Amino acid sequence: MNGKIYGIGVGPGDPELLTLKAYRILKDINVLCIPKSKAEKESLALSIVTGALKREFEVMELIFPMTHDKEVLERHWDAAAEKMVKKAREGKSLAFITIGDPMFYSTYAYILERVKRNYSDVEIETVPGITAFAACSSFINEPLTEGDEKLAVIPAAYGISSIREALEHYDNVVLMKVNRKYDQVAELLKEMNLLDKAVYISRCGYDDQYYTADIEGLIGREKDYMSVMIVRKAGWKSL
Ligand SMILES: C[S@@+](CC[C@H](N)C(=O)[O-])C[C@H]1O[C@@H](n2cnc3c(N)ncnc32)[C@H](O)[C@@H]1O
Repeated sequence: MNGKIYGIGVGPGDPELLTLKAYRILKDINVLCIPKSKAEKESLALSIVTGALKREFEVMELIFPMTHDKEVLERHWDAAAEKMVKKAREGKSLAFITIGDPMFYSTYAYILERVKRNYSDVEIETVPGITAFAACSSFINEPLTEGDEKLAVIPAAYGISSIREALEHYDNVVLMKVNRKYDQVAELLKEMNLLDKAVYISRCGYDDQYYTADIEGLIGREKDYMSVMIVRKAGWKSL
C-alpha cells in the first residue's frame, strides 16, 4: 500500500508555534522532506522541527535553486515531486516541511500541484501553519487589522509600484520579502509621509528576533531574508 505525503506548515520560528496536528504527524512519519536552496547551510524549517520533537528522522533534502528561471525551477519541482512519490510508493509516509503556512508563498504549492495532477494514486494532505505576519503582529503586540480595515499583503521583492498602489488603497500593508527592496520602500514611505506608521521585524520567533520602528535607521544596512515590514496607516497604539 502506498504511503501518504503531508505538506506541513511548521510556523514562523518558535517551535512552540508548531500545531498539535503537525506535531502528531511528524512524530510518526518515515521521511522528513526538507526544501533547501543551495546557499542555505541549515534549514530553518528543520530547526523548528528538531526544536519541538526529540526523534531521529530519515531525511530527504530537496534542493531548489534561488532563481527566477521558470524552466530551471519547473525541472526541480518535477524532480522533487517524483522523488517523494517514489518513496510513498514504497509504503513510506513523508512530510514536506515548510516555514509558516504551506499555502502562503511556499514551494510546497508546486509540489502539491504536481502530486495532484500526475500521481493520483498517492494521497497528499496539507496541514496549515501559523503564518509569519500573524506571528510578527503578536511579537510587537499590535493588531494587524480592526473593524472595517482592509489589509494588503505584498511580496516586496517584485517591485515598488504595487507597494505604492497598496499603500494608497489599503489601511494596512504587510510587505513580505522586504529585505532587498528595503531602501526603496523606506524612500517611498518618506515621500508618502508614512515613515512613522511602519515597523520592521526580522527572524520572528528565533533567538535573534528583532524589530524596530526606526525605518530610516536601517537604510543601507544588510537585512535578513526572514523579515517583514508592516505599515498601519492609522498609526500604532503603543509603539
Ligand atoms: C517564502 S516566504 C514564506 C512565507 C511563509 N510560508 C509564511 O506563511 O509566512 C518567506 C518570507 O516570509 C517572511 N518570514 C518567514 N518567516 C519569518 C520570520 N520568522 N520573521 C519574519 N519574517 C518571516 C519573510 O518576509 C520572508 O521573506
